[in-house]
Amino acid sequence: MQKRYFLHATALAVLALSATYSIAQNNNFKIGLILPMTGQQASTGRQIEAAAKLYMAQNGDTVAGRKVELIVKDDTSIPDVTKRIAQELVVNDKVNVLAGFGITPSALATAPIATQSKTPQVVMAAATSSITLASPYIVRTSFTLPQASVALADWAPKNGIKTVVTLVSDYGPGIDAEKFFKERLLFNGGQVPESLRVPLRNPDFAPFLQKVRDLKPDALFVFVPSGAGAAVMKQFLERGMDKAGIKLIGTGDVTDDDQLNGMGDGALGVVTSHHYSAAHPSAVNKKFVEAFQKANPGMRPNFMAMGGYDGMRVIYEALRATKGKGNGDELLAAMKGQIFESPRGPMFIDAQTRDVVQNIYLRKVEKKDGQLYNIEFDVIKDVKDPGKK
Ligand code: PHB
Repeated sequence: MQKRYFLHATALAVLALSATYSIAQNNNFKIGLILPMTGQQASTGRQIEAAAKLYMAQNGDTVAGRKVELIVKDDTSIPDVTKRIAQELVVNDKVNVLAGFGITPSALATAPIATQSKTPQVVMAAATSSITLASPYIVRTSFTLPQASVALADWAPKNGIKTVVTLVSDYGPGIDAEKFFKERLLFNGGQVPESLRVPLRNPDFAPFLQKVRDLKPDALFVFVPSGAGAAVMKQFLERGMDKAGIKLIGTGDVTDDDQLNGMGDGALGVVTSHHYSAAHPSAVNKKFVEAFQKANPGMRPNFMAMGGYDGMRVIYEALRATKGKGNGDELLAAMKGQIFESPRGPMFIDAQTRDVVQNIYLRKVEKKDGQLYNIEFDVIKDVKDPGKK
C-alpha cells in the first residue's frame, strides 16, 4: 500500500514538473538565428553568433517577464537549407522571430515563410537593396550596398581617381555595388571602362586582375562578401597592381575587420566606404569592442557582428515595447521607427522601408597600436538606401 502510494505521488510529481517545464518552454520568447556556421561564409556566422550572445550576456535573458531563448542553426549558406530550417523553426519550434541571414539568397528564400507565418525576419547581414521588398515582415539591421557604394563614387573623382574598373561578386549585392558606384561615378564625370563579375563560389581572381592590369585604370573598385577580401588583397599585391599605379578601393566588405589585420602592410592606404569600423572613435564603440574581445579572445568584431548586436537590440526593445506579448504584427510595428546610438553611430529603422538609415564613413587602412584598422576620415550622415525611391 505504502509503495503504491509512493509511486502515485512520484508520478504526480513528475507530471507536475513536466507541466511546469512545458509551460516554461512554451512561454519562452524564441529567436531562430539562422547563420552560415560552416562553409565559405562561416566567419559571418561566427561573428553574428558571438555578438548576439554578447548582447544577451550584457542585457540579461529575460525581457518583460519572458525568457529569451536563442536557437542557432547552421544553413551552410545554401538558400534551400535556410528555407527548410526557417520552416522547421516556425512550425516546430514556434519561434517568435527569425533572424540572421548571411547572404542575400538565404534572406530571399526565407521571405515567403516570414510573410505567410507573420513572423518578423530580422536581416542582420545580407545587404542587397531589394531584400526588404521581398516581405513586409523583413527589418534590416546591416546595411545596403547602394548605401555604401555611392559615398565612394563621390569621394574618388575629388581625389584624383577618374577611371575605375569595377570587380564584384556576381550576385545581388555585387550587382547593386557595381550599378550604384558606376552610375554615380559617371554622374561625377568619371569613367568606368570595364565592369567585371566573379562567381560567388570559389572565385579565382587571377584572370580578372590580369585584365585590370592591362586596362591600367586609376583604381579598381571591389565588392566581395565578408570573408573573401583577404584573397583579393593577396592576389592584388602578388600581381604588383599597386606598383603599377592602380589603387584598390571598395566597400568596407573588402577590408573586413575580421581579416584586415592578417592582410599585412600591403593593405595600408586602401580607402573604403562603410557603416562600421572597429576603430570607430566613440565611447559606445570602445565599450562594445572591449566587451566583444573579452568574451571572444583573439577576435575583432566586424560589420557582421554589428548587424547581429543591433539586431538583438531591435528585437529586445520590440519585445519590451509590446510588454512581452510576442505577437508577430505587434513586434514588427515596434521594430519600425526604432532610433538609438549604436556602436556604429546613430541608427534608425525607417518605418516606411523597414531598412536602416545610418552614417556612411570614408576610411583608410592605417596602423594603430601595431595593428591594421579602417580609420575613419570623413562621414556622410544619415544615409537612406539610395536603392529605394
Ligand atoms: C549578401 O549576400 O547580401 C552579402 C554578404 C556579405 C557581405 C555583403 C552582402 O559582406
